Amino acid sequence: MGLVWRLLLLALIPLRIFLELFWCYIWTPRDKKTRTIHPANKATNGRSPSTLPSSNGHDGQVDTTAVSPDKLKDLYDALDLWWGPTSCLQVMSRMNKVRMPIIVQTYIRDVQGRQFDPSVPKEATPLLGARICDVGCGGGYLTEALVDAGAEVVAIDANEVTLLAAKQHWTETRGLKVNGPEYHQALVQEFSQRHEGKFDIVVCSELIGNVTDSMSLIPHILKLVREGGAVVITTNNRTLFSLLFTIIWLEHVAAVVPFNFRHLYKFIRPQELHRELKKYNVEPIETIGFLPLGLTARLTWRLQWVLTSFTGLWYAQVAKKVFA
Ligand SMILES: C[S@@+](CC[C@H](N)C(=O)[O-])C[C@H]1O[C@@H](n2cnc3c(N)ncnc32)[C@H](O)[C@@H]1O
Repeated sequence: MGLVWRLLLLALIPLRIFLELFWCYIWTPRDKKTRTIHPANKATNGRSPSTLPSSNGHDGQVDTTAVSPDKLKDLYDALDLWWGPTSCLQVMSRMNKVRMPIIVQTYIRDVQGRQFDPSVPKEATPLLGARICDVGCGGGYLTEALVDAGAEVVAIDANEVTLLAAKQHWTETRGLKVNGPEYHQALVQEFSQRHEGKFDIVVCSELIGNVTDSMSLIPHILKLVREGGAVVITTNNRTLFSLLFTIIWLEHVAAVVPFNFRHLYKFIRPQELHRELKKYNVEPIETIGFLPLGLTARLTWRLQWVLTSFTGLWYAQVAKKVFA
């Protein structure tokens, strides 16, 4: 990134703070388009078409012979964006360290009704038997971890190229394993019409709060959960801390997240999510905070996500669909 652009980003901080507060508290833009992470203009990390295997497209592998040359380029870029060694999105992959214990606890304690003792050494596959839907799976960071923990996972994402990258990464790293994740390109709004009540747990991580009118997605997400099943939603709280850290620091100072990518007015407070869940026969169980520690300007390997009772930055809301 050029020095001029870095200086410009720093100079724009006061204006950005003003605009974010204005949009949040005085006038909320209605017509801003939902932005999904798109791999345009990223390096291909040394991959070339010849290094991508082609197949019949079964078991999650991408049939690269059926992908147009334009999409193929996007696919390599998406692979690099999500899974490249220096990708800024790796910060989300590391979030698994806090997301996975929350999901395992939810399955054992809230869905199975068993005693959950975090001090007991963990089984290798604590989610064995769980049928989980990962809504807005992106490049598959959480999806892969869920499968590794023994769950049967269906992962959906609206973005075709992102989903191709998720499939391709699974194949490149694991081979054609029969029990890999089942990936679908779909909007949750339409997928939920066909898969009502099919899942023990529905996970929706870092989607709500990043798109316009997130609350309208809640009934669709909940529709996928079976009675007695649970939902785990992770997102950013709408606080001054979030403005300063997740927008100003990550976009303007560390500049590791694309400029103008996230907006305070889209973030959701736990109480608002809580109220929304209760409208649909879903009982909120707990709100768990988490935050990144050791974050350096370049998002180096020192970054660690930790669970905390402080919910002012990131939080997970766990809720259970009660029997009608
Ligand atoms: C920030 S990414 C989160 C990725 C993943 N959950 C993780 O935490 O690693 C959000 C993803 O949600 C997807 N998305 C946005 N709106 C969606 C919708 N209505 N239905 C399904 N996916 C959606 C986007 O394409 C994007 O890949």
